[in-house]
Amino acid sequence: MEIRDVAVVGLGTMGAGIAEVFARAGIGVVAIEADPQAMTQGLGLLDASLSRAVSRGKLTAAEQAEIRSRVRPAAGFSDAASVDLAVEVVPERLEIKRQIFAELDRVCSPDAILATNTSSLSVTAIAAATRHPDRVVGMHFFNPAPVMRLVEVVTTVLTASHVPITVAGLARLLGKEPVQVGDRAGFVANALLLPYLNHAIRLLETGYASRADIDLAATAGIGLPMGPLALADLIGLDTVLAILEVLREESGGSRYTPAPLLRRLTAAGWTGRKAGRGIYEYPDASGDQEDQNGTATDFPPPDTVTLIGSGDDVEASLATALATAGVNVTRNPAHPSDLVLIAASGVQRVLPAALATGRPHNAVGLHLQGGLSDGSIAEVVATTCSSAQAVGTAAALAHRIGLRVVHSPDRPGYLVGALLYPHLADAVRMVQDRYASPADVDTAMKLGCGYPRGPFELLEDLHPGTVLAGLQYMEQNYGDPSFAPPPGLTERATLGFVGSPG
Ligand code: CAA
Repeated sequence: MEIRDVAVVGLGTMGAGIAEVFARAGIGVVAIEADPQAMTQGLGLLDASLSRAVSRGKLTAAEQAEIRSRVRPAAGFSDAASVDLAVEVVPERLEIKRQIFAELDRVCSPDAILATNTSSLSVTAIAAATRHPDRVVGMHFFNPAPVMRLVEVVTTVLTASHVPITVAGLARLLGKEPVQVGDRAGFVANALLLPYLNHAIRLLETGYASRADIDLAATAGIGLPMGPLALADLIGLDTVLAILEVLREESGGSRYTPAPLLRRLTAAGWTGRKAGRGIYEYPDASGDQEDQNGTATDFPPPDTVTLIGSGDDVEASLATALATAGVNVTRNPAHPSDLVLIAASGVQRVLPAALATGRPHNAVGLHLQGGLSDGSIAEVVATTCSSAQAVGTAAALAHRIGLRVVHSPDRPGYLVGALLYPHLADAVRMVQDRYASPADVDTAMKLGCGYPRGPFELLEDLHPGTVLAGLQYMEQNYGDPSFAPPPGLTERATLGFVGSPG
């Protein structure tokens, strides 16, 4: 079945982006939006995106005009009578979606496919509001829709077999990669992404780390294109909250329980970029937030450092880098050095080693995430005994040897591990539940969320044993069962096996 004309219902950020994607592919778009102000805003987003492409030399002015002419604003559903496919892109409220589907079902031709861009709600429940549930499917795009390549094609037990085939073919025509998934809350990408974002918001709320440090830990420490807090603002905190509510209802557990800060910001109307304020402030329309460079330090680097560690290669390279930077390195804790630097493991707490030096106020942990290569980050780990001077001096030292610094408390996994280990465990759990394969998970996160390496590739890079140890340590220390490693991870750690269990 060829799709020549579509209706996009709802012209918010996602609806405008999806309309753009269709129009760029030569498909006519009826843009339906009941609220005239929202229509004007949505068309404004579309125009801004196309103008940006022209200013970057990606489109000519003539192409822009041609694309724009394919989008026909409409106030009512009757204009959707002749479309081949309608995509609903309204806020995550089941009742509203069901009303829209009942209306589309009445107006559209019997052959038309009805798709929802829901991020988390049950496609089956939406389909059940229609007289022809066999033509209802999920077509889930990612934000920004013109950029992210994943489309999750969600089928229900009611969906006719030709429908996902047509929708997957359409997604390819749009330059996207379709991944077919079953109707489960959050599908693949959101079910993994949202608890990770929620956890990051909770780390901010509990003063675990600053927003700049949390986001830098994800970008420089894990290699992700955006930090979780900036990403939550991009998605919209109201949307993040709505998806978490659905995930919690379906799956339970503290990882899905929305952080109170998320509720407060949403209640205040500070819903992220689109509102000009969320976790960050967005003073102008560019969407840029203020600095993301981690916490600056005013302390000078030390002249002499006592380096304590387990004598591995990383510690040896660190000693060499310090010496090359002109710092005197001693291994003697009794030496009256300016700073005691404890080469931290990435999992274990620093405090026992700090106490063993007899100078815990001078002692700070340093964890190198990714070695000493250019642009790598150092986690500066402050124990409850570390003085502000020792922490500042350690940060200055890390800067001196070319590392980017994030500050972390002396808790299991520090900051990078605290964000990453539970996220990887969620991915293993999803595969263990046979909802998706490791390849599906990696594809979804790479194409939907711009990850350079998928969760299973990251797991392989880090080694499952390291992630397992980190989670066990987190579970013991926090007493939170949501950190309990899934059996699939224990198996992978034992067997040194990362891929599909077959
Ligand atoms: N609309 C249209 N195009 C946009 C855009 C937007 N909002 N933002 C960026 N772009 C385009 C730019 O024009 C640029 O295009 P060209 O290469 O053709 O010039 C390209 O994207 C790269 O942009 P930038 O160079 O300005 O910025 P960047 O390299 O930092 O990339 C990013 C920006 C693509 C957003 C990147 O940071 C990224 O991949 N972030 C992760 C986003 C993500 O995870 N999305 C999924 C969220 S989950 C979701 O959406 C599902 C849900 O249901 C909630």
